[in-house]
Amino acid sequence: MSNERRLILYIATSVDGYIAPPDEDLGFLATVQQEGEDYGYQAFTATVDTVLMGRRTYDKVAAMGVPDPHPGRTLYVITRTGRPSHGNIHFHTGDVVELVRWLRAQPGTDIYCDGGARLVHTLIEHDLIDRYCISVIPVLLGGGIRLFGEGRAGQALRLLESRSFPKGLVQSWYERVR
Ligand SMILES: NC(=O)c1ccc[n+]([C@@H]2O[C@H](COP(=O)([O-])OP(=O)(O)OC[C@H]3O[C@@H](n4cnc5c(N)ncnc54)[C@H](OP(=O)(O)O)[C@@H]3O)[C@@H](O)[C@H]2O)c1
Repeated sequence: MSNERRLILYIATSVDGYIAPPDEDLGFLATVQQEGEDYGYQAFTATVDTVLMGRRTYDKVAAMGVPDPHPGRTLYVITRTGRPSHGNIHFHTGDVVELVRWLRAQPGTDIYCDGGARLVHTLIEHDLIDRYCISVIPVLLGGGIRLFGEGRAGQALRLLESRSFPKGLVQSWYERVR
């Protein structure tokens, strides 16, 4: 474990850069499903004890019948509208930038950003993401929710690793160079 907890974005996108199509049906992710292949997800999540998720992503996953998407980990759902916390799930209405700075000062392992795009935008705007794991799904969605919005300063990244898989997913790990 490094001294400072890193914030890591682990996310899947289409080749044309969308994390969800216009109707937000995540069926495109199923095109790369393969028995016995989790694209490093379990190994990655074993390195994190805390997860950040935008409220829209949380509601989407909950509507898919998964009310606790990260059991055993502390989940902060970022929102402007409070809801009662339950178990490991906290609805955070404060400043997410302050939350990340506070989390980094606490003991623990790395922190996982599970999307969506609006949350990612704020985190990048404040240069808070240390590593990116981007899994590119071999599809063009043609529209929807862009992983990376416009209107931010550029940032240098270093490629740590890139791998392709039989179903056509290409996964790249990048590190922020500061
Ligand atoms: N392909 C993938 O791997 C992947 C991963 C994650 C999500 N997704 C998809 O992406 C879509 C959701 O993404 P999204 O960009 O629309 O939404 P999102 O980032 O998940 O959630 C947006 C909401 O989170 C809160 N929020 C985000 N940033 C905030 C900030 N800086 N300060 C305060 N509140 C903040 C607000 O909640 P309130 O409105 O409650 O104030 C905002 O409306 C869903 O369809 C989801 O399934 C795909």
